[in-house]
Amino acid sequence: MADRGELQHVLSADQFLDPSAVDPLMDLAAGFKSGQIDGRGLLDGKQVATMFYEPSTRTRLSFEAAAHNLGAQVLSTENARAFSSVAKGESLRDTVRTIQNYADALILRYHEIGGAQEAAAVADVPIINAGDGAGEHPTQALLDLFTIRERVPEVDGITVGFVGDLRYGRTVHSLAKLLSGLHEVKTVAVAPDELQLQDEYAPDGLVRATNLGEVIGDLDVIYVTRIQKERLEDPDPQAYERLKEGFVLDAALLADARDTATIMHPLPRVDEIAADVDADPRAYYFEQAKNGLYVRMAILNTLLGPNPAHTK
Ligand code: NCD
Repeated sequence: MADRGELQHVLSADQFLDPSAVDPLMDLAAGFKSGQIDGRGLLDGKQVATMFYEPSTRTRLSFEAAAHNLGAQVLSTENARAFSSVAKGESLRDTVRTIQNYADALILRYHEIGGAQEAAAVADVPIINAGDGAGEHPTQALLDLFTIRERVPEVDGITVGFVGDLRYGRTVHSLAKLLSGLHEVKTVAVAPDELQLQDEYAPDGLVRATNLGEVIGDLDVIYVTRIQKERLEDPDPQAYERLKEGFVLDAALLADARDTATIMHPLPRVDEIAADVDADPRAYYFEQAKNGLYVRMAILNTLLGPNPAHTK
């Protein structure tokens, strides 16, 4: 069996604040990406279930592709809030108690903070948190860390700017924890006051800013996020438009950024990164999304599979 170590569930970035928990996953993901580790057949005979109560493109499909690449089979409820028995009034706990009889791991995206913890409390199989409301998104943070390490020769000492909706953006919550737990990085939170990073997620020494143009020249990683419109307390479209102002990265603004900067975004992008940035060599968000496949293969194999053999 694989060395699962302490890893029973993947619920929060808090579980990965030690190099011994993260580095083996990163090495495995790098092996899958380079082709030096052959994933085929590692999860033969296994089943994973994806249960998604909120929209998703990359997270669900990259998890499913990762499972298929390893030989596992996939059960999926794409719109669980509308189409699973939750629509009939079933509790999350009862759904988990049921589905775990059909699957070896449950990948859960839930619309409320703490959904994955609640599922894990009754589950006999690993629960993977694929986003819990405005809480966390630990597997995204792991793929973001993998991406940063790929781009930056030495992570210690860099300056990371988080831009956009840092209050409701769960990917930022998990990545801020992960980076500050593992590395000495300077962090700048660039957001309107209403969407600033809450203290519970703020790393020591965090600098807060309200205008990207004023700080962009200091940043090694520019991590842009969309305004989480669906989570805003004020659903007025004008409030949304106002919040967006000053946080759009376009080619003109990018002229002030470092030549060595890396632009990241968990995606989906709405209009907070202009299309004229996509061809810039510093734009790395589509490669970042690609890395999700390899990092999720590494997570699934660590939870469910054997130690893979290096083929080259
Ligand atoms: C994010 C999410 O769902 O939290 N997307 C993702 O998983 N890559 C970001 C977002 O929805 O804005």
